[in-house]
Amino acid sequence: LNKDKNLMKRTVIDTEDNSKTLLINNTEVTYHSRHGAITESTHIFIENGVAAIKHKPRLTVFEMGFGTGLNAILAYEFAKTHGIKIQYHTIEKYPITNAEVAAFYETIVQYNPNLLPIYKQLHRLEWDTNNIIDDYFEVKKIESDMLDFHIDNNYYDIIFFDAFGPKFQPELWQPDQLKKCYNALKSEGFLITYCAQGQFKRDLKSVLFSVENLPGPPGKREITRAKKA
Ligand SMILES: C[S@@+](CC[C@H](N)C(=O)[O-])C[C@H]1O[C@@H](n2cnc3c(N)ncnc32)[C@H](O)[C@@H]1O
Repeated sequence: LNKDKNLMKRTVIDTEDNSKTLLINNTEVTYHSRHGAITESTHIFIENGVAAIKHKPRLTVFEMGFGTGLNAILAYEFAKTHGIKIQYHTIEKYPITNAEVAAFYETIVQYNPNLLPIYKQLHRLEWDTNNIIDDYFEVKKIESDMLDFHIDNNYYDIIFFDAFGPKFQPELWQPDQLKKCYNALKSEGFLITYCAQGQFKRDLKSVLFSVENLPGPPGKREITRAKKA
């Protein structure tokens, strides 16, 4: 079974808040919650992510898994609305196709039509170059495998840890990867993720994170925020 090949065969599906996500064919694995893609991303990565850091005019964010770019566009919206400068670095091994990107335009327009031009721009950007979108958002999309990517140390305020789940991609949730994230964060920085699995939380603690359980989005009891002391 060639998992790499399978990861590139996907179907666009509707979620319960009317926003779309992707499903990996022949699996139950989705890019976002079936209970609402935008609702989930907003709850986890915006409300409990960038909005949880107060009084900082600049934020550095590293995203594990650019995917559909929903987290990225919501982070952009947050930056612009709150007048905060975000430097956003996002890694992706299996970029989605232009046809898949186009399938999300409707979702973006329903959510906030003003975001559509930026959403398109984010997807058209060249990989592995730094791009200044406007006064509030600077983005670098890295086309690479997280497993052997070296992240800068003590650089990020927040890591959006949005890999597929530990059952599907156990290798990305191992202590060595979590240690790498720990090192990449500034002190007081944190990793935020939808995953609340017990073993994952023990592994976070084993690499010295302090772990917080937060209420989840619809359909999910808890999510996890892990802070670097
Ligand atoms: C749960 S989805 C993330 C969804 C994304 N944040 C979004 O808003 O659409 C996981 C993402 O991680 C990517 N990915 C999986 N394995 C990877 C790896 N080893 N290195 C980099 N990216 C990977 C997948 O292709 C997918 O886009």
